[in-house]
Amino acid sequence: MKILFLGDVVAKSGREAVIRNLSNMKAETGADFVIVNGENAAHGKGITASIYSRLTSAGADVVTLGNHAFSKKEIIENMDLCPRLVRPANIEPADAGTPFVVAECGGKRIAVVSIMCEAFMMPVTMPPYEAMSRLLPEIDADLIIVDLHGESTGEKMMFARVFADRVTAVIGTHTHVQTADEQIIDGCAFITDVGMCGPFNSVLGRDADEVISRYVYKKPSRYTPAAGPSLICGCLIETDEKTNRAIRIVRMQKRPRQSD
Ligand code: FE2
Repeated sequence: MKILFLGDVVAKSGREAVIRNLSNMKAETGADFVIVNGENAAHGKGITASIYSRLTSAGADVVTLGNHAFSKKEIIENMDLCPRLVRPANIEPADAGTPFVVAECGGKRIAVVSIMCEAFMMPVTMPPYEAMSRLLPEIDADLIIVDLHGESTGEKMMFARVFADRVTAVIGTHTHVQTADEQIIDGCAFITDVGMCGPFNSVLGRDADEVISRYVYKKPSRYTPAAGPSLICGCLIETDEKTNRAIRIVRMQKRPRQSD
């Protein structure tokens, strides 16, 4: 089984890049199943039901979220229109949406789970370890892929070590910068952060001039996603058909041409 995981889709540029390239990427990688983190898909913060539907129509089997899960309030009312949208297990509001989905693919049941880290993040309702430990007995699946959304590299590495024997992959998201530490830990694929699908010429997907104006020159400004072409960051996880354990993780990065 090959699973393609694409990192945080940022705003219009990231969305359009993913929607335009996903079917080719599936064909090139031979991916059977696709997970996309969509937590920054709507103007850099949150997601709408209509964007969820565009991502799934383009080939995403499951869309995950993060700290901006509920930044666009309409998604709370429209969760029933988004059956494969996964919100972090350990943030408020606890009753909106689901912290995991189980999808069938190639005769396997694939669970996709979303967990929020604690360090340098918004308040969580429980530590990530406790949230994952509580969910595990509820999940009946052959493969378990965790989207671990957080800032701290060490926290994500520690989480992977704690759950490596019980899950298939722990894929870090949120920092928007891809790390070069992909590895297999006891049959569990891990990368600290898979990186973003968002505007390349930016500060983490945000307009660089706006960020500098706000943080260096202390001028009030509104959050502005950068324009221009996007890079696409992701990873391909391969599992053994018999054991369902991860045997390979390959980092992927598709950058726009510098002349674009
Ligand atoms: Fe995030």
